[in-house]
Amino acid sequence: MNGMTAKISFAGVGKTFPVRGAATALTALEGIDLDISAGEFVVIVGPSGCGKSTLLDLLGGLSEPDAGRILLDGAPVDGPGRDRGIVFQQYALLPWRTALGNVEFGLEATGVPRAGRAARAEEYLELVGLAEFADRHPHELSGGMKQRVAIARSLAYDPDVLLMDEPFAALDAQTRESLQDELLRIWRRTGKTIVFITHGIDEAVYLGQRVAVLTSRPGRVKSVVGIDLPHREEADDVRSSPEFARYRHEIWALLHDEVTRAHELEKEALGA
Ligand SMILES: Nc1ncnc2c1ncn2[C@@H]1O[C@H](COP(=O)(O)OP(=O)(O)O)[C@@H](O)[C@H]1O
Ligand SMILES: [Mg+2]
Repeated sequence: MNGMTAKISFAGVGKTFPVRGAATALTALEGIDLDISAGEFVVIVGPSGCGKSTLLDLLGGLSEPDAGRILLDGAPVDGPGRDRGIVFQQYALLPWRTALGNVEFGLEATGVPRAGRAARAEEYLELVGLAEFADRHPHELSGGMKQRVAIARSLAYDPDVLLMDEPFAALDAQTRESLQDELLRIWRRTGKTIVFITHGIDEAVYLGQRVAVLTSRPGRVKSVVGIDLPHREEADDVRSSPEFARYRHEIWALLHDEVTRAHELEKEALGA
């Protein structure tokens, strides 16, 4: 596959940030090459601070690379767009709006008439299993429910691509696992291209068709691991299978070296 046919293509992408009071900038990402096909579910894992959120922000058009290029459907990413929905770790819901109102909010800029917006919002709340909670406000919802609303809001305007930055990290293990299944179900039903960021190895193996492992900062693509575990949400306890354990170990080993290196870099930075 090359940049011409990929849904998303990173070619030589780098990003630096100026450091206050320092002569040299901080290199967050360097030489990122990664192609993602339409309809693919790609997970990006890497140690804390390696540039995962930076990568997603670039793809979301929230910031610009200072090296290389990012293509979406063959055209350079040029700011945010309705072709990409973003879900962050923090729910970012409007507290004064109901669940329905929050999903509708995503549609207000799309030109869908008011009556149509409500119907569409209801449909997406139903998709994430929250039809009965349409009238609740965020403070009346659990963390998992709030994240379902955020997912419904991102899906409601029908973006081709869903960008997710550690969306389940703040949830308890059981809620996280049920949302992972929900997300796989939604992905199969909608055919969205999903780029999902996590620092959780199990989560990466469970969700991804491919898992891109980043190095510690500056983040580069260290390895891309193809995961062949079809329909995990329908099988019984896939996480306990030998295949799952093998993938988990493979990614663990790739990450382990990077986490060790990241700690050394931290110590160096602190002058230890
Ligand atoms: N706006 C910014 N200004 C300066 N430094 C930043 C900015 N955003 C991120 N960084 C730095 O870039 C590196 C990568 O950050 P980030 O992408 O958030 O990592 P991750 O999401 O993998 O934990 C970190 O060292 C972080 O401190
Ligand atoms: Mg991050």
